[in-house]
Amino acid sequence: MSAASERQPARGATAVPAHVGIIMDGNGRWATARRLPRVMGHRAGAEAARRAIEAAAQAGVGWLTLFAFSSENWRRPQDEVMELTGLLRHYLRNEVAQLVRNGVRLRVIGDRARFGAETMEEIRRAEAATTAGTRLNLNVALSYGSRAEIAAAARSLAEAVADGRLRPEQIDEAVVDRHLTTHGMPDPDLIIRTSGEQRLSNFLLWQAAYAELVFQDVLWPDFDASHLRQALDEFGRRERRFGGR
Ligand code: FPP
Repeated sequence: MSAASERQPARGATAVPAHVGIIMDGNGRWATARRLPRVMGHRAGAEAARRAIEAAAQAGVGWLTLFAFSSENWRRPQDEVMELTGLLRHYLRNEVAQLVRNGVRLRVIGDRARFGAETMEEIRRAEAATTAGTRLNLNVALSYGSRAEIAAAARSLAEAVADGRLRPEQIDEAVVDRHLTTHGMPDPDLIIRTSGEQRLSNFLLWQAAYAELVFQDVLWPDFDASHLRQALDEFGRRERRFGGR
């Protein structure tokens, strides 16, 4: 893929975003408001993820990245981590047929090794089973942290320089981009965060350099096609200048 700057759409473009990233937030609060255990919020969140995937495909979005488990989420109480990782494994195992039927190609970004051999195998199988999907490219970010991703890229570039495979002056934005897990994907044009929080929380920091940010008050388990539509409409109203005038 060419340099990030060459991948930018035309100034002021208001088309459907090629790539939407979603920080799915508010599962815990949704459950607490109903006096339910947090895990019920995550289960309802998985349903919302299904709705979001279908709504994105229907809207003509080419790429959707869902932030499902951050590298910081490992610090949550052990029982919640177990519930979350169990839910993700369940999703990988049971959702593949539906993804294939819907033309969705699944990729996982993040440090999958932290989930252990069995889950890594489930991920590999799910990715392999969906390679023919062309309707929507779905990235699920698992044990993902943008700073760790950028540090890994720096490490791999330093190794290439140390081995004499690369000269420091050859390192530009396009070269860094090639060392990220999102290499070959368009940068997100739109990042949505639910639950009213307004931060990126270590999500696609490099890739989101020019993304439009839309923060919505809805708790993630309540997210549906109408919320995606609102965010796409808001995106359509923004004038994107990419640093120009
Ligand atoms: C944030 O809510 C959500 C998460 C940490 C997990 C996201 C996981 C899912 C939506 C379910 C699985 C997704 C897929 C793709 C199968 P929170 O727990 O931080 O909520 P809070 O801020 O209200 O406590």
